[in-house]
Amino acid sequence: MVPFFLSLNVLRLGLWASGLILVLGFLKVAHLLLRRQKLIRAMDSFPAPPTHWLFGHALEIQQTESLDKIVSWTHQFPYAHQLWLGQFVGFLNIYEPDYAKAVYSRGDPKAADVYDFFLQWIGRGLLVLEGPKWFQHRKLLTPGFHYDVLKPYVAVFAESTHAMLDLWEKKAREDKSFDIFCDVGRMALDTLMKCTFGKGNSGLGQRDNNYYLAVSDLTMLMQQRLQSFQYHNDFIYWLTPHGRRFLRACKVAHDHTDQVIRERKAALQDEKEWEKIQKKRHLDFLDILLGARDESGSKLSDADLRAEVDTFMFEGHDTTTSGISWFLYCMALYPEHQQRCREEVQELLGDRDTFQWDDLNKMTYLTMCIKESFRLYPPVPQVYRQLNKPVNFVDGRSLPEGSLISLHIYALHRNGNVWPDPEVFDPLRFSPENSSGRHPYAFIPFSAGPRNCIGQQFAMNEMKVVTALCLLRFEFSVDPSQPPIKMLQLILRSKNGIHLHLKSLGAGSRKQF
Ligand code: HEM
Ligand SMILES: *[C@@H]1O[C@H](CO)[C@@H](O)[C@H](O)[C@H]1NC(C)=O
Repeated sequence: MVPFFLSLNVLRLGLWASGLILVLGFLKVAHLLLRRQKLIRAMDSFPAPPTHWLFGHALEIQQTESLDKIVSWTHQFPYAHQLWLGQFVGFLNIYEPDYAKAVYSRGDPKAADVYDFFLQWIGRGLLVLEGPKWFQHRKLLTPGFHYDVLKPYVAVFAESTHAMLDLWEKKAREDKSFDIFCDVGRMALDTLMKCTFGKGNSGLGQRDNNYYLAVSDLTMLMQQRLQSFQYHNDFIYWLTPHGRRFLRACKVAHDHTDQVIRERKAALQDEKEWEKIQKKRHLDFLDILLGARDESGSKLSDADLRAEVDTFMFEGHDTTTSGISWFLYCMALYPEHQQRCREEVQELLGDRDTFQWDDLNKMTYLTMCIKESFRLYPPVPQVYRQLNKPVNFVDGRSLPEGSLISLHIYALHRNGNVWPDPEVFDPLRFSPENSSGRHPYAFIPFSAGPRNCIGQQFAMNEMKVVTALCLLRFEFSVDPSQPPIKMLQLILRSKNGIHLHLKSLGAGSRKQF
């Protein structure tokens, strides 16, 4: 039996608690409504596509081919339009070079409404950080991408690529098309782990594979969360099955990065390793992070260290995977360009069997094709900011501080006012003559301004080496029965993979690298 006075207390406590929850809920709703009013007022000089009373534009964005839906809106609304995810989060969606420049040439912070969803996973690393701490980390890590550091990576890219291509020899013999995306993904992770994290020569282990799968889950869940306003609140999200799945995948990702850090720290205990590092003229990414000291001489905290490792582990492989896969798809679609690239790299290589650093600048036609595939299939199709001061656009319209901006790189790259016949694959757009007069914000696969991609050079080098080797060993053609379905999942993916037919160009092209 519960004594009378106790049950009374429990009752009273229950009443208090529900009262408190009601008040907090009310305050939250009031806050959201006020914010909504503010965002609406800020954007009232910009048109909006028809909106759903509850979902805003989220339903259109959830459809397959939603990227092309946005492109169709850009025809209707020149420069910019409102884009609402539910009723409380509204962006100005921009896809015009001058508009992009007005915002992205400054260093405004990332939009917390989007990037905070990353926190549980990659923490406050370079991608999410802002202010002086971002600046400090950016300065710290930039030497990790110095060309002396990048040079030896050419051989590492080749090694990982050949492991993938050997696997493809087997698959190609079956005379069926297959999905190249996952194999490219594992290769890109393998090469990143070797270059940036000093992994040894073995292929991917079980933990790496688990990590690879976890990332595809995490990007899917994060995109879904972004598009579902009912998931925006942390407290609610962690209670849902999707939220718990997100947390489980984070755990897998963290187990992986923790191991990478642990192994490197253990290696540093070893005297010989230390000597080796001190002899290096340029330190690699992990050396820099572990050796970093601020003015007061203290090391990076464990949380900062892990955030950077998590950030680079993700940004460094998922993006290039998308880039390489869509590039090969473009080559399969346009055999005449494929053949021209192949002839260029064959000629460049002559009777040598390895690529050198100096070769990378001579792959002219291949580079033009890579850029054209980045234009049509940008690996990072959309990035977001929150203004920390007002902005004036070229046409006289403006936005106040606090406004949210979505830069739609995909739509910008298909903007007919900038790119004549935007849907046509034409690498000559990127010939030196044709590039010189172009607006610097017309083509920005790596974003632009102070928050652009720190790994841009690394990525371009990887793209060139990997694709050149692919073209030397195989001929690629499309599978008309399984065309890829473009899907935004933070990066550009295909809903059904990228299925290609591969024809081996003969074992002779497998040289000893
Ligand atoms: C084709 C490959 C790649 C593409 C298209 C790409 C694209 C981008 C874009 C668009 C941004 C801006 C993101 C934003 O504003 O939210 C960015 C930032 C970033 N990228 Fe890349 N990226 C690629 C490869 C890489 C690689 C290989 C690395 C690392 C090894 C990397 C590391 C980063 C980091 C750390 C940032 C945040 C930089 C900062 O805010 O200071 N990326 N990337
Ligand atoms: C410039 O682009 C146009 C259209 O793509 C092309 O016909 C022309 O040959 C290009 N010019 C050069 C010098 O590549």
